[in-house]
Amino acid sequence: MRTVRFGIIGAGLMGREFASAAARWCHLPEMQVRPEIVALCKRNPAAAGWYREHFPAIRQVTDDYRALLANPEVEAVYVAVPHNLHAEIYCAAIEAGKHLMGEKPFGIDLAANQAILACARRHPEVFVRCCSQMPFFPAVQRIGRLIDSGAIGTVIEVETGFLHSSDLDANKAINWKRMIEVNGEYGVMGDLGMHACHLPFRAGWRPRNVRALLSDIVKERPDGRGGRVPCRTWDNATLLCEMEDPATGQRFPWTFKSQRIAPGEKNTWYVRILGTRTSVSFSTRDPKRLDMLEYTGGEQIWGQVQMGMETAYPSVTGGIFEFGFSDAVQQMWAAYLYELHHGSVPSRFAGCVTPDEVALSHRLFTAALASQRSGQTVRLEDAS
Ligand SMILES: NC(=O)c1ccc[n+]([C@@H]2O[C@H](COP(=O)([O-])OP(=O)(O)OC[C@H]3O[C@@H](n4cnc5c(N)ncnc54)[C@H](O)[C@@H]3O)[C@@H](O)[C@H]2O)c1
Repeated sequence: MRTVRFGIIGAGLMGREFASAAARWCHLPEMQVRPEIVALCKRNPAAAGWYREHFPAIRQVTDDYRALLANPEVEAVYVAVPHNLHAEIYCAAIEAGKHLMGEKPFGIDLAANQAILACARRHPEVFVRCCSQMPFFPAVQRIGRLIDSGAIGTVIEVETGFLHSSDLDANKAINWKRMIEVNGEYGVMGDLGMHACHLPFRAGWRPRNVRALLSDIVKERPDGRGGRVPCRTWDNATLLCEMEDPATGQRFPWTFKSQRIAPGEKNTWYVRILGTRTSVSFSTRDPKRLDMLEYTGGEQIWGQVQMGMETAYPSVTGGIFEFGFSDAVQQMWAAYLYELHHGSVPSRFAGCVTPDEVALSHRLFTAALASQRSGQTVRLEDAS
């Protein structure tokens, strides 16, 4: 078993998810490679108690990411920091020769993303991927296999999205995800958008143009100190794109939604693909359920498949049991390490987001901002 020693930079919400996934690596009996967390960079190192208590292999805790990157024991890093720090820290990690799993959006804007990608191209020996865990739900892996086998037929249309309602409360205090200077001009697209792009981009489908409708619904929020401050980030994004499958030349509509103010939706990731032979629909609102309609010329009947633990990377959990968010995170890390170790993934949809896919998301979001400004449909090639 190969061990890859990791440092975590930005030990917030997602850093703990990674650490917990690493701690139960015995769950994945067929993996020939495992992560070990040996270093931590936290703004406030004194508050590293949870990590110190549960991860005795952590020998370095620092508030300086440069010190972590200078640690020769660290082979790879997971960086989960606010968006305005992505370019600086991702480039420093790549230049230091550390394999990188970076959080989306992989740069606060197109220029930052291009700087990171240029850096990655100068260091092909460094393995670089972007975090996105939802396609590892078993139903989505099944959809991927249907796409791969051609069972969908001709794609008629596609909808994907990621919906939250956490910002419906206008009295929720502002934090960095609602500040343009830290989260970025993309607003909710930078924050949630990659999740909605991962599956269609992995399928090879390419947006040619976009008409965007972006909404700033809550314009002011408490500042947490008794006052109120402007909240200028886009809360909701609805994009209508003309998509092309370069393999067939076929074009079809893709409706993309990333929304922070979607009443009733806690953390809903969904995909719906209508095809001439098979149509499918999945939402994390009902994570075991995959809806399918197989058309053979007779009745058109939507059926329900109950998905169990049918994972891309085999797990010790029995096949009939339920899969959840933490499992998706662990599967994504299995994908990262599998590809780092073996040089490829066992199947197309069992891989993490690549730098090229991230670059395409930035071109889409940049074109979407231009569309919102002009009220027109914008071609992606005109927005780069
Ligand atoms: N994959 C997902 O589902 C998912 C979910 C949430 C957030 N994210 C992404 O993860 C990243 C971080 O978001 P989060 O929700 O974990 O935020 P967070 O605010 O919970 O954590 C960010 C962490 O970065 C630390 N930090 C800030 N500046 C730092 C610096 N100079 N050096 C080291 N650490 C620093 C903060 O102290 C904090 O602990 C963002 O890119 C976000 O888009 C991904």
